[in-house]
Amino acid sequence: MDIISSFDLSSAEIEAILGKATELKKERKEGEKARTDCAGKTLALIFEKPSTRTRVSFEVAMLELGGHVLSLNWNELQLGRGERIRETAMVLSSYVDAVMIRAYSHATVEEFAHYASIPVINGLTDFEHPCQILADLQTIREYKQKLKGVTVAWFGDGNNVCNSLIGGAALTGMNIRVACPKGYEPNAEIIERAKKMGCEVAITADPAEAAADADVLYTDVWVSMGDEAEREQRMKDLQPYQLNADLVNRAKDDAIIMHCMPVHIGEEMTEAVLNSANSVIFEQAENRLHAQKALLLHLLLSQENPNC
Ligand code: CP
Ligand code: NVA
Repeated sequence: MDIISSFDLSSAEIEAILGKATELKKERKEGEKARTDCAGKTLALIFEKPSTRTRVSFEVAMLELGGHVLSLNWNELQLGRGERIRETAMVLSSYVDAVMIRAYSHATVEEFAHYASIPVINGLTDFEHPCQILADLQTIREYKQKLKGVTVAWFGDGNNVCNSLIGGAALTGMNIRVACPKGYEPNAEIIERAKKMGCEVAITADPAEAAADADVLYTDVWVSMGDEAEREQRMKDLQPYQLNADLVNRAKDDAIIMHCMPVHIGEEMTEAVLNSANSVIFEQAENRLHAQKALLLHLLLSQENPNC
């Protein structure tokens, strides 16, 4: 099984992963870090783009599950010298038990998964970031005690994280509003797929409309990795979508504020909002560790042991 898109998981699988993530988080808070579930297993991480949270949370997750991890930069591999994805995927499949890959192009990760005979996890592409969404769902569920019927408002670029969040919303019964300028909408096929699953997806150019009485306010960088050449234009176009106190005041009093990080203060979010009482951003980042541990158990062990 591969996790290339949020839609690769069923609602039941997400429920099981979130339940396990909560259990693992509690266990770790109580001082129990070391497990042996993944003893003898190796996870390879391949990065074509930079990463702080994804790299460190996957490394720590695998180590705390008793397994091994290899963190590999694209340019240190023969990939950087032109070796094809397919041969790399086939060779790595004979060494390691799973691969997480972060790449510029979604097609790269799809191709890798096609040729690999082991589970492949998308660690972010230009199109989706499904691991982020597992941690986000865990965070929302912790604060709202449910997912079904929760209204999430997204502000700014309808990017990779937004695409995956729409998938996550559809699979868990949340509603999602996306406030973005024309030309920055999330992927149309993902919107259609979510709507067909009964998800309410609203796209608006008006951030105030999206924020009104929302339960969750979420934003991300205006310039994603790979979009740097468009920086100047993006700064202009996305300025009205900054998550600031004015927007927060339009949401429910107990609305939580989310950001997948890294945060660019003064661009998509103000310092005051980042550090406000309603911000759950650091816990959201922490949950990457717990959610990915649960995902690794699901991918590496559930076939061998259905109780995992
Ligand atoms: N949110 C996230 O994926 O962060 P990194 O780019 O630091 O991994
Ligand atoms: N949308 C951002 C997310 C970073 C975690 C990017 O792709 O750079």
